[in-house]
Amino acid sequence: MTVTDQQSVHATEPNEEGYRGFTIGHFNLRRDEYFVYIDWPTGSHTMSVDAFLRAIQRDVAWDFFYGTVNFDGVFGTVNHYGTVDIFAGRYNESYRKAELDYTENVETPLIRETFKAILDDWTSSGFDPFASPHETGSAFGIKHGDNTRAVTRTRVAAARMVGVPGDAPLRSDEDGYPVNRMFADVPQDEPEVYAEPGFENEVAAFSLFAYLSRSDVTWNPSVASVCKESLFCPTTEEYILPIIHGNDRVEWFIQLSDEITWEVEDRETGAVRARVVMKPGDVSAMPADIRHQGYSPKRSMLLVWENNSADLPDLIASGKTPTYPIDF
Ligand code: PHB
Ligand code: FE
Repeated sequence: MTVTDQQSVHATEPNEEGYRGFTIGHFNLRRDEYFVYIDWPTGSHTMSVDAFLRAIQRDVAWDFFYGTVNFDGVFGTVNHYGTVDIFAGRYNESYRKAELDYTENVETPLIRETFKAILDDWTSSGFDPFASPHETGSAFGIKHGDNTRAVTRTRVAAARMVGVPGDAPLRSDEDGYPVNRMFADVPQDEPEVYAEPGFENEVAAFSLFAYLSRSDVTWNPSVASVCKESLFCPTTEEYILPIIHGNDRVEWFIQLSDEITWEVEDRETGAVRARVVMKPGDVSAMPADIRHQGYSPKRSMLLVWENNSADLPDLIASGKTPTYPIDF
């Protein structure tokens, strides 16, 4: 954080529950023991604090992600890759009709530092917004300590491939990544690689299942391999994706284990479009004009395949590229 960034975060003194209030643009945000209260010039909104913290944790860790991050049906952010829209009711048909919706565009560093400050101030010790609800403590109550170590985690991002010398390392017991309770049956042996002499740094393989079985976070895709603009982002999922993601590009899902149900809605209005139940081996492509939220009753493994090209949002918004991936 630079000094300039720090100065631009507008925070109040702590309230009687011990939490600061924050202002960004014309949005004011505050919390008490149970709720987050957001107001803007044309309206106001309330969220449960646990859902809010799980959502803002992803927005911060993914640096506003691809496209839209809806915290719920009212509040969220749209990434313009350099600036970010912060909105209320913008993607909610009823708010739009009643003209209660409001959007403000802010420089990315300002919202990044403000959201980081909110997340850190509002997370007490014992609550980890990245953990499954069954594996962490409560988000509620008056402020007690902090969990800065947990909330400043960023996603693991390989530049080439996990396990290649010099790149993101494999996880192990020794590094503090035990096999998750729900993946106790996942084999832990690694492939044997016999590289031609001179190619030891180029040829590598690893067990993706073993790697994922040791993930300590949920709904937080890592970047496990990079090939030009193709990013393989595997992740472990349990309970509910804490955001409703509005795509600005097509995104592929490969269900590696267990089951996830996706609720798919129209990105602009929130109208229901589909329910997709994905079982192991199922592959789906999510169109570029929807938003979606996943439900995972057991911890599951999901491969999210992203096209990272910076050209895609404009190509799709201008109609030069379709919102769906393939014509059969
Ligand atoms: C998504 O929005 O596509 C998404 C986000 C996080 C995950 C999985 C999928 O863990
Ligand atoms: Fe998505």
